[in-house]
Amino acid sequence: MIYLKTDEEIELMRESNRILGMAYGEVAKAIAPGVTTAYISRIADEFVRSQGGIPSCLGYENYPAAFCVSVNEQLVHGIPNEETVLKDGDIVTIDGCVLYKGFQSDSAYTFPVGEISDEKMRLLRTTKECLYIGIEQAVTGHRLGDIGYAIQTHAEKAGFQVCREFVGHGIGREMHEDPEVCNYGRRGNGIVLKSGMTLAIEPMLLSGRRNMIIEDDGWTARSADRKPTAHYELSVCVRNGKADILSTFDYIQEVLKDRYI
Ligand code: MF3
Ligand code: CO
Repeated sequence: MIYLKTDEEIELMRESNRILGMAYGEVAKAIAPGVTTAYISRIADEFVRSQGGIPSCLGYENYPAAFCVSVNEQLVHGIPNEETVLKDGDIVTIDGCVLYKGFQSDSAYTFPVGEISDEKMRLLRTTKECLYIGIEQAVTGHRLGDIGYAIQTHAEKAGFQVCREFVGHGIGREMHEDPEVCNYGRRGNGIVLKSGMTLAIEPMLLSGRRNMIIEDDGWTARSADRKPTAHYELSVCVRNGKADILSTFDYIQEVLKDRYI
């Protein structure tokens, strides 16, 4: 069942996403060689709570932390911990949701730590391009498959693979609503997009082979070949002509300035 949102509901979702975006701005300030993944999650957790939001990954299907923090070959659902210390050349993804005034927001961002290799930088840039290319398709009258097709085509042209095991999704009062938003697909396939649909679009790219492994903690999903992976996500509302992006990377950009990619 797909729930179309009213304009009032969209504004509440924007508020929820703003808190999440601001939390990621705080994270951007903190990311540096020497900090732990637990610290990254704590920064976001404390900020979200200070604004009256709830980091809603905590306890979702028993996930044990406020935010997912995934390093290098870890694609999604990394569990933040005190042992994993970021080092120069790593890439680190924060992914999480906020529940605020009854509505969920969902966004993810992969950050470089210090100086990263050209190949990692190309992976980050391509993954972020895939996100905006996917969002361009999230307009009234297009089909769901147009989003996946656009993302997959751009990723594969650059020599990267899209993850098949994890997908984007509808979002609203629930973190995961219908429909599933695959990062692969065929043009013209799938349901027709309607104004008021709210989607979390989240390309997840692998720089090596596309096989995935779940680590022994039961959550952390990493590339089988341990090649780097990246993930960017924004929540959007389908509109006529142009999607309305509800999440924001603006606070990250403000912090990173000319290091923002
Ligand atoms: N933000 C993730 C998503 O994109 C979180 C879901 S997994 C969780 O759907 F267990 F951590 F909540
Ligand atoms: Co999501």
